[in-house]
Amino acid sequence: MAVNLKGRSFLTLMDFTPEEIRYMLDLAHDLKAKKRAGIKGELLKGKNIVLLFEKTSTRTRCAFEVGAMDEGAGVTFLDSKSSQMGKKESLEDTAKVLGRFFDGIEYRGYDQEVVENLAKFAGVPVWNGLTDVDHPTQILADMLTMEEHIAKPLNRCKVVFVGDIRNNMAYAWMYGCAKMGMHFVAYGPKELADQVDADVVARAREVAAETGAVIEVSSDIASIKGADVLYTDIWASMGEEDQIPERVRMLTPFRVTEEMLEATGNDDVIFLHCLPSFHDFETTMAKSQKELGYDIREVTDEVFRGRHSKVFDEAENRMHTIKAVMVATIA
Ligand code: CP
Ligand code: NVA
Repeated sequence: MAVNLKGRSFLTLMDFTPEEIRYMLDLAHDLKAKKRAGIKGELLKGKNIVLLFEKTSTRTRCAFEVGAMDEGAGVTFLDSKSSQMGKKESLEDTAKVLGRFFDGIEYRGYDQEVVENLAKFAGVPVWNGLTDVDHPTQILADMLTMEEHIAKPLNRCKVVFVGDIRNNMAYAWMYGCAKMGMHFVAYGPKELADQVDADVVARAREVAAETGAVIEVSSDIASIKGADVLYTDIWASMGEEDQIPERVRMLTPFRVTEEMLEATGNDDVIFLHCLPSFHDFETTMAKSQKELGYDIREVTDEVFRGRHSKVFDEAENRMHTIKAVMVATIA
């Protein structure tokens, strides 16, 4: 059956069928090849998009901007300080106004409900650029990267997400693996395993029952055996910085090290990370936390820079996959 995503919002992978996700990945592979061949595109010519950011970003913002400009679209960026949204104008009114000006709206912020309400009122596609509970564009980039580096289909791959297993990336991965029939393990400390949203797991497992996926939450190192991907994220997500001491205490044994890679038993395992990453002390945050006695590195520098690491291919793929989402939904 032909896939047509025109006019659709991209709020979570749970809204898409495996065939629709496959379509976006194939389109991203094609758009990447086209860009590599130096072919200029006009798929978004005459379109305008707006990017709303209530949290900071490097990759997501640049991926939307470059992806849109590559295909001829105009881009407007608004952060929470420079727009009226939520302060002097309701979300509903803002969505209705932006929907009159723009062909697509990207939103990064806190509540998933905000991005859902934007989609409800805007009348144009809305794309989720990260909320507290999901980060669906990141998963498309991660899957594209897996397909470039792992010589087997996604539904035969095992992804292990290590660390803060109750954050937006862990949940986004649960949904993505469920949809694509993959084996997913959230590997982290018992205290965090107990905080994993049972509803998220139940919804992912409901999909998994149809696709053949396996969704596990484990604190046992044996669960990482056979991983094709070892994935981690920062230990305290944006807005959670006050929890650093507690997270360092809980997560230090879950720092990704060479020994952990070896424990997968797979010499070809790849290391992925959404970035930004604390893998050394070259950031003001890692430095200042170190002075307070907290080593916030979720991965060693050795692994981050080592032969298993594909994190910069992954970062580049944010752009190709986000471009595919825009082309699929508004071109
Ligand atoms: N991975 C990711 O979303 O990066 P940014 O926070 O830089 O957008
Ligand atoms: N979990 C991280 C992801 C950053 C891309 C955060 O929300 O800060």
